[in-house]
Amino acid sequence: MMKVAMIGCGGIGEYHLSHLTTFGDIAQLAGFCDLILERAEKFAQETGGGAMAYTDFRVMLTEVKPDAVFVCVPPYCHGEIEEELINRNIDFFVEKPLTLDMELAKSIEKRVAEKGLVTAVGFQCRYDMLAEHIKEFARQNPIPFVDCTRFGSIPEVFWWKDKKLSGGQLVEQTIHQLDYIRYVLGEPETVFSMAARGFVEAADYDTDDLSATVVRFENGALATIGTGCYAESGDAFDSKTVFSAKDKRGEMKLLDTFEIFGGQQQEENEIGNLVVKGDGGLSSASKNGLVYQNEGDPGFLCDRTFLEAVLSRDQSKIRSTYSDALKTLAFGLACNKSMETGLPVHVQDLLK
Ligand SMILES: NC(=O)c1ccc[n+]([C@@H]2O[C@H](COP(=O)([O-])OP(=O)(O)OC[C@H]3O[C@@H](n4cnc5c(N)ncnc54)[C@H](O)[C@@H]3O)[C@@H](O)[C@H]2O)c1
Repeated sequence: MMKVAMIGCGGIGEYHLSHLTTFGDIAQLAGFCDLILERAEKFAQETGGGAMAYTDFRVMLTEVKPDAVFVCVPPYCHGEIEEELINRNIDFFVEKPLTLDMELAKSIEKRVAEKGLVTAVGFQCRYDMLAEHIKEFARQNPIPFVDCTRFGSIPEVFWWKDKKLSGGQLVEQTIHQLDYIRYVLGEPETVFSMAARGFVEAADYDTDDLSATVVRFENGALATIGTGCYAESGDAFDSKTVFSAKDKRGEMKLLDTFEIFGGQQQEENEIGNLVVKGDGGLSSASKNGLVYQNEGDPGFLCDRTFLEAVLSRDQSKIRSTYSDALKTLAFGLACNKSMETGLPVHVQDLLK
């Protein structure tokens, strides 16, 4: 039985807690730390007793001696926590984005590799029931173009509204889509991004309302990525990624569906409107073609895979390690750099 602790007991911490409390066969929840003691105490109580609450992560690490730690702090709070975990040889799961400081992330990645620590990152969408179908679609149908959109409103947490603290929507939120596109298509080579303000009226607000990015991938494909936080309700909300091939296109709605239009699927549509669920079973008909349906929360598998890797020391089933997520961070921060400079940015330059 391994001991697990958490640093940062806010919104995403609650999400992981809901998974971790079901892993009693392999993990004992031993300690929770938050700068706000009540938050850590609330989490400790939710485990049913036995876990301790702390406000100082170093004290918690010394007293609890966890085998694995979930780091669930906001983007601007990384650095000291990871350094301390590495110094103490503790495996860790860390939320996206890894940090807003590329040099810091590179130095953490180097030290993690030197120590052979097991790491995983909160790109849980990679574990959904769609990802392998989409990768297969891309293997069978070369994709010259991807069109990605994510529009929504402003999250409640105070730090989100300040780009210096959150990294802005593209880096804090739409990074899930950047990561997914990388997972399917491979590495981005060059990005060119523009941001706009003036559409949102909110107190203490100092971030972009929206941005538009053009990407060239190393394989020659292009993508456009539009994201905005100005939407308030209804049809203004959207999250869709379209993988466009020569005679087919696949539309992914994040954690929801992957629908293939055209090609063979059109014929299948004509003979019976096949709908294939993520588990491979047929579920119901669609007027358009073949539909893969995600079911459940991929976060369970994401968290469980990390803990099993900590036990086995085999990281091969972890779909997003610190080292891989570093490349997604470079993708996002390259877009931010382009917004600031007005120039195209080579993503690989940030990884040097
Ligand atoms: N994977 C996902 O789908 C997903 C979803 C939401 C948020 N996130 C990410 O999770 C991170 C946290 O987001 P959130 O919404 O939970 O934020 P939050 O503000 O709700 O919670 C963060 C908590 O961390 C605590 N904290 C900060 N520094 C600390 C420190 N040094 N020691 C102990 N506690 C500390 C804060 O007090 C706060 O309670 C962000 O990077 C966000 O992007 C990921």
